[in-house]
Amino acid sequence: MALTEIDHIAIAVRDLDAAIAYYRDTFGCEVAHREVVASDGVEEALLAVADSYVQLLTPTWDDSPVAKFLERKGEGLHHVGYRVDDCGAALAQVKAQGHRVIDEAPRPGSRGTTVAFVHPKTAFGTLIELVEE
Ligand code: CO
Repeated sequence: MALTEIDHIAIAVRDLDAAIAYYRDTFGCEVAHREVVASDGVEEALLAVADSYVQLLTPTWDDSPVAKFLERKGEGLHHVGYRVDDCGAALAQVKAQGHRVIDEAPRPGSRGTTVAFVHPKTAFGTLIELVEE
């Protein structure tokens, strides 16, 4: 198992449209995909940067994880999504190394992907998302 590419850098924001306008007007980035992920309580916009994305995230309900993150830490970098060929195998390897995970099993992400989150506590402070396309 290896990480094959950076899929996305996720940034938590309070006003999704304002953040989209900032990236468009300042850096010329266009929205490639926009989706409400109801189970995670977020709306996301993906802006293409080469083969990766900047993912702007905003909460859709009050005590969703991203809402709590914004309350605690304010806007900014939320997680890094890495592409893997096999999300289940990658997650099993993290667990086999004795590291903490958030998702015990792969689950559906946005864009029809399969994803699993690795806990920042044993990942040197970064919330990591394993993304299988
Ligand atoms: Co993500």
